[in-house]
Formats: sequence, structure tokens, C-alpha cells
Amino acid sequence: MSIQLPGTDRAETERLREKIATTLERARARTAGLTALDEAELVAQHSRIMSPLVWDLAHIGNQEELWLVRDVGGREPVRADIDQLYDAFKHARADRPALPLLNPQEARAYVGTVREKVWDVLERSPLRGNELVSDGFAFGMIAQHEQQHDETMLATHQLRTGEAVLSAPPAPAARVRVSGEVVIPAGEFVMGTDTDPWALDNERPAHPVHVPGFAIDAAPITNEQYLAFLADGGYERPELWSERGWAHRAEAGLVSPQFWEQDGGGHWWRRVFGTMQQLRPQQPVVHVCWFEAEAYANWAGKRLPTEAEWEKAARFDPATARTRRYPWGDADPDDSLANLGQAHLEPADVGAYPSGASPAGVHQLIGDVWEWTASGFDPYPGFHAFPYREYSEVFYGGDYRVLRGGSFGADQVASRGTFRNWDHPIRRQIFSGFRLARDLRSDER
Ligand code: AVJ
Ligand code: FE
Repeated sequence: MSIQLPGTDRAETERLREKIATTLERARARTAGLTALDEAELVAQHSRIMSPLVWDLAHIGNQEELWLVRDVGGREPVRADIDQLYDAFKHARADRPALPLLNPQEARAYVGTVREKVWDVLERSPLRGNELVSDGFAFGMIAQHEQQHDETMLATHQLRTGEAVLSAPPAPAARVRVSGEVVIPAGEFVMGTDTDPWALDNERPAHPVHVPGFAIDAAPITNEQYLAFLADGGYERPELWSERGWAHRAEAGLVSPQFWEQDGGGHWWRRVFGTMQQLRPQQPVVHVCWFEAEAYANWAGKRLPTEAEWEKAARFDPATARTRRYPWGDADPDDSLANLGQAHLEPADVGAYPSGASPAGVHQLIGDVWEWTASGFDPYPGFHAFPYREYSEVFYGGDYRVLRGGSFGADQVASRGTFRNWDHPIRRQIFSGFRLARDLRSDER
């Protein structure tokens, strides 16, 4: 044993190096696909709330340079002169097109140069010895960063008008019938993680939470369900909305989820990446803001789940009282378990992923749509920012709501039972939907 151990360690480290390389390459292939547009399209501002795609591209390279080339690798800067241009805190998205940005050709060359250096840094890193590189954390963090921007770029693609440029097979239809609610009995579970090696700082530390009994929808709210709310005057009845929500509804002129259009015959369609699609009734509703989800919940006589409820429904295994990484167990996602990674350009129908359900029978918690929760974005007890305050800490306590689960546009490296996303309650260009929860009645407790 004592002779074999170092060899086993070495083999394990090489497997990790391989996994890092694959994960970084998958992100880069996706980035390339999302930026395969002509120059004018890449520098254009498709929406005031989004960056030009060429900004995201160079920002991806700049973060990779800062963390992997300079910090982990200890190398000389590639382009220290552009740090400021690609610092997300220095320039609002609306102002980014006017900056002296790298042009598309320069941006591509820049991210390529950075990546070449990263391969060398990766080759030489022991992948242990300090918190930043142990288990490949910094590499995993940068792969997640690129994939998160890829999802943002995908949202920019959805906002852009003109001919479709992206394509993918339609998302699967139902394999089983799923409806109704699942009761999760009262009790403690472990929320967050200390052990998932690439979990980000806001997912840590693991901590026990007592969650009173609750019922949660077995599936996200579908287009058909949402249409019933709309047909029942959902957008015309102030009593269903919070005061802030109603004011926003009026100011923004909300009459339906974003990208919905009604034809002369009264049928609803959805514009999906430049193609008109008849509304799929069993598909989770997508592109709704938190205020719309709140109004729907009021209409249905229910409420959004808290973040703790969502995570308990997604991770707690009542048979073993253990908290899992994913609803189905600890194994990484694949295309039989969840709709992730832009394999499809839309959510799959409810019932499409029976093998991905939780032990209690809650479906499609991972993938399809980000799910709005009732919770604001706050630190867990014992949180410490790592490695940088600007990822999570500066957003705590702000005007944000947490979203969970990951969408069809989220890569598996940035989606897990503990992963926390957040956005302003008015945002709906993201791939956001929701499911509902409620307290238990006394006869159910
Ligand atoms: C976690 C998705 C809210 O896009 O603002 C990207 C991720 N942070 N670059 C965002 C992020 C820094 C972040 N969200
Ligand atoms: Fe970023």
C-alpha cells in the first residue's frame, strides 16, 4: 500500500487535470458558437440591459488572465492595460458599447493567447497545496465564470432581432405524467456544502436548517397553467400583485411573459431565438420576472418556496437523512437526468426527466428554467468571501431574489443542488420560471 499510494495519487491528479481541460474546452467551444456572428452583430447593443457580445468575450478572457495566468500562474500580465475596460463594476452594461473595446478579431486573439498560457499553468500546477488550486478550484471557478457569461450571451441572442443563428433539437416531450404537489415533512437538513470541490463561496459552509413541513409543486408552472392566470385577468387585477409589482407591471407595460405574442385567432406564440413557436402547453413558463411569479402565486392561493425549502426538496433523502448533490443522487448530470448545457434551446415539457426526480418525487429541479424563490440573497452563517468579494459578498442584502436549479442554458459545471443564482425582481430576459409551495394544513402535519 505504502508503495502504491503515491502512484494512485498521481493518477488521480492526472484525471483531475484531464477533467479541468475538458471542462475549460467545453466552455470555450460554447463561447465560440455564441460569438460566431459578423462584426456588426458582435459590437451592437441588442438591448440596453445587456453588454455587446464582444464585451463578454474579452471579459471572459480578462477574468481568466487575472485568476489563472497572473494569480495561480504568477505570470506577467498579457494585457494589464485593458483590465479596467472589462471590470464589470467600472462600467454599466448600457455604457459598454461606447468604450474603446477590443474589436472582435482582437478579442478572439486575446482569449486565445490567455488560454494558451493557461494550458501551461495547468500543466505545471500541482493542483494541491493551497486553497486556490486544491482540487482545481480556481480552474473550476473560471470554467463556471465562462459558462455563466455564455448563458448571459445566450440571453442576448434571445433579445436580438433578425434571422435565427442558433439551432438545436427540440427539447424532449413528457415521458411520464407529473402533476400536483409533494409534501416534505418538517425536520432538519444540511443546507450548503463544505465538500463539493468547485462550489463557490456563497454555497458554503454546510449548515443545519430546520424547515417546517411544506408542500411543493412536483413540477415547474407550465405555459398552460400560466395561460389560465392570464385568461383570468392576472395582469389586470391589482389585488393579485404587490404594490411594487403592480407599479412595475404598469411602468413596463407587462401583459404576458416576455417574447409571447398573440395572433389574430387568439393563439399564443413564443419567439424563441428568432423563430416563432406555438406555445407548448406542458413546457415550463420562461421569461417571467419575480413580480409576475408573485402575482401568479397569489392568484393560485400559494407562495414561492424559500431557498431552504427548494434546496431541501432538491437534496434531502428521507431514507438516509443525507443531503445529496443533486435530486437523483451524487452523480454528475447527463441528458437523461436534466435539460442543461444548451443541448436544447428551450425548456423540456414537464415529465421529460423522470430519472432526474428527487426521492420524494419532485421533478425537473435541475435544468429547464431557473426557479425564482421567495428569498433575498444573503450569506449563510459562517460565510467568508473567497477568493474575491465581488463575486457574492458585495451583492448580499441588495434588491435581489435568489433563483435555483439552472436553466436549459446553464452548463452542468454551474448547476447543482447548492448553486445560487440571483437577480433583480424585475428581470426576465434570463431563463426564469418558478414553481409554488405552501404551508401544510393542520390535517397534513
Ligand atoms: C451569478 C449570474 C448573477 O452574471 O452577474 C459573472 C455571475 N459574476 N461574472 C452575473 C457573474 C461575475 C453573476 N450571476
Ligand atoms: Fe463576469
